[in-house]
Amino acid sequence: MDKHAETQPPSAVEKPGEWRGPDTSTFIPISEIGPEFRPQIKRHLLGLDPHDRYLRFGYIANDEQIARYVDGIDFERDQVYAIFDHDLKMLAMAHLAYGSTPEQPAAEFGVSVAKKARGCGLGKRLFERAAVHAVNSGVDTLYIYALTENATMLHIARRAGAVIESSGGESAAHVKLPPATFRTHLTELMAGQVGTMDFMMKSGTAALHGLLTPKLKGLPRRTRKPASPKV
Ligand SMILES: CC(C)(COP(=O)(O)OP(=O)(O)OC[C@H]1O[C@@H](n2cnc3c(N)ncnc32)[C@H](O)[C@@H]1OP(=O)(O)O)[C@@H](O)C(=O)NCCC(=O)NCCS
Repeated sequence: MDKHAETQPPSAVEKPGEWRGPDTSTFIPISEIGPEFRPQIKRHLLGLDPHDRYLRFGYIANDEQIARYVDGIDFERDQVYAIFDHDLKMLAMAHLAYGSTPEQPAAEFGVSVAKKARGCGLGKRLFERAAVHAVNSGVDTLYIYALTENATMLHIARRAGAVIESSGGESAAHVKLPPATFRTHLTELMAGQVGTMDFMMKSGTAALHGLLTPKLKGLPRRTRKPASPKV
């Protein structure tokens, strides 16, 4: 057996249709979230304009359809990831949905990033985070369904090594995942801890801000004003 097999990044084995592994050049904290985040997920998805809803769901989902989708997420079975800004506003979320047959361990990836946060690598990082989890759960193929016009999503999939099949306006991208290794488990463990710490720090800052703001509000206006420079 190759003694480097455990330590080699998956990118060392580039074959068409096989995952190229995560890009480790930059790091974005990603939180794994549970059902208590349904309201924030709804708010994030309802913030998508009609065209983005079309790209995300394959049709222009109305508010009720979005609410139904969010209420239907099975947090026991699936994984949901989110990226928050400093005020804990959800900037992006991804849903890794598992297929139901144990003989064909497959999962589907869906993602959305708020317009103001696009082009910063969040979509790509969410894909990588979900892919590492899928690898560690024994998933062998990861699917991404996107409209053929969705050049950005297909670019992310292609860069990850996916094979893309297009038919009419729809495209199906699939990428073969490697077996789990000590490295992939460690990567996920670390990413999970960083995501949790990041969320806790942002929560602490938000709580502190909440504590301070009423006090500041109670202060006379003059006290809050920065001292004007003496001439
Ligand atoms: C698709 C989406 C998730 C991408 O998120 P994002 O955070 O902006 O994506 P990233 O910044 O991680 O990556 C964008 C990549 O696409 C490339 N890209 C941007 N516009 C592109 C275009 N028109 N054609 C091809 N590639 C494009 C960027 O250069 C970047 O590639 P790089 O990392 O090789 O430089 C986001 O646009 C979105 O939420 N769209 C609406 C919902 C949606 O389409 N979801 C996907 C359906 S599952």
